Amino acid sequence: MHLYGTMAINAAGHLEIGGCDCTELAQHFGTPLYVLDESEFRHRCRILRDSLAKECPGSEVVFAGKSLLVAALCRILAQENLGLDVVSGGELYTALQSGFPAHRIFMHGNNKSQSELRMALESGVGRIVVDNFLELDQLAQLARAQHRTADILLRVTPGIEAHTHAYVKTGQVDSKFGFTMENGQALAAAKRALSLPNINLMGFHCHIGSQIFELEPFQDAAVALAELVAQTRDLTGQVLPELDLGGGFGIRYHDQERPPALDGYASAIRAGLSQACAKHSLPFPRVIIEPGRAISGEAGTTLYSVGSIKEIPAVRTYLSVDGGMGDNPRTALYGAKYSALIANRADQEPDTLVSVAGKYCESGDMLIWDVQLAAPRPGDILAVFCTGAYNYSMASNYNRLPRPAMVLVCDGEADLIVRRETYADVMANDIIPKRLAPENKACRAG
Ligand code: LLP
Repeated sequence: MHLYGTMAINAAGHLEIGGCDCTELAQHFGTPLYVLDESEFRHRCRILRDSLAKECPGSEVVFAGKSLLVAALCRILAQENLGLDVVSGGELYTALQSGFPAHRIFMHGNNKSQSELRMALESGVGRIVVDNFLELDQLAQLARAQHRTADILLRVTPGIEAHTHAYVKTGQVDSKFGFTMENGQALAAAKRALSLPNINLMGFHCHIGSQIFELEPFQDAAVALAELVAQTRDLTGQVLPELDLGGGFGIRYHDQERPPALDGYASAIRAGLSQACAKHSLPFPRVIIEPGRAISGEAGTTLYSVGSIKEIPAVRTYLSVDGGMGDNPRTALYGAKYSALIANRADQEPDTLVSVAGKYCESGDMLIWDVQLAAPRPGDILAVFCTGAYNYSMASNYNRLPRPAMVLVCDGEADLIVRRETYADVMANDIIPKRLAPENKACRAG
């Protein structure tokens, strides 16, 4: 069993994360509980930041907030000198309210509203990553009205096929995102952007997909974007200085997965760019990458309490926990695979094959199909690994269940960074119109 980050098994046979005993965390904060390993999160920020700085001087690592974004994390990211990729007004608001420096924010989105664009401009975000012609023109108008200049990147689809789940593929031609390179749209967008006052085109962006285990597609994407810079120069005479290669670096959800070392991506990108820049006589660009999962994923663990265990002889044993697709929809949505451990008997042999089900009212609400655990019993604490990315950020109140709390653990200390929702939170936005008040007996529909 692979233990992530600072995980250890203590003398009591309990799983520890960040020096905190998981059974005590579960007792103190309740379950389900998201546990974030601060040292591991910071460590992964630093590996990516330092490896990229070494290969591509002047570069920037921009954390993809869609994978996980809460106020405390914004503080950590700022301390680690990372940028932040936000993709909505809500993510931008979170970052700004948390004191994250606006000039380090990249504003994304394939259908930004006028108010999101206005918010991005007014707050002075570092870059707006423009997705389409409508947005380009709207942004130019808004910037003119505000007497500002917007520093932008153009999102392009370079036509690179990455081997990953169809829902998280984004770099191919048939994609809702960005300007297509293959049909000349990307070059036309660059020409247009360069002609617009109040718009300062800094370069191109692409994101070829997520949970990618090969380095080659990143190298190919770097070459494709450098070629687009060369074409833009040949057409307009302008050399764009920045290339953002997105995120998508794969992580190890379970023992059968072997992603490349985190510092390997920087050299693949550098290799692609050195070759393409030499070929087209371009200066080496300022490189940006936007990893989300590769930073937050392995740093997160979810603790659940084990409830009913249903054995169907010769078929399967279902072990139900007190969470499920509301706190982690990835198994139901993508067929994602996870590894897990009984945290209160972490030293015991995982000798029993079970499937971990959630408590939501549908058959697809599964967390793990087929996992070996140490003979589970009701009341055990189950730790599901690698849940830091796209779990809390995709959580819902399905079945009107409150979303879990999150704790940040480090050196034996555990701090609550997201409080557990209450039933009152779940119905906080409900409104009963006056005409439905109990004293009003009239029933229009009848
Ligand atoms: N940059 C852009 C423009 C993106 O669209 C994404 C992810 C990232 C960076 C970060 O990708 P990462 O390094 O985290 O793979 N909900 C899905 C993943 C959707 C990813 C969307 N875009 C999942 O749970 O697997």
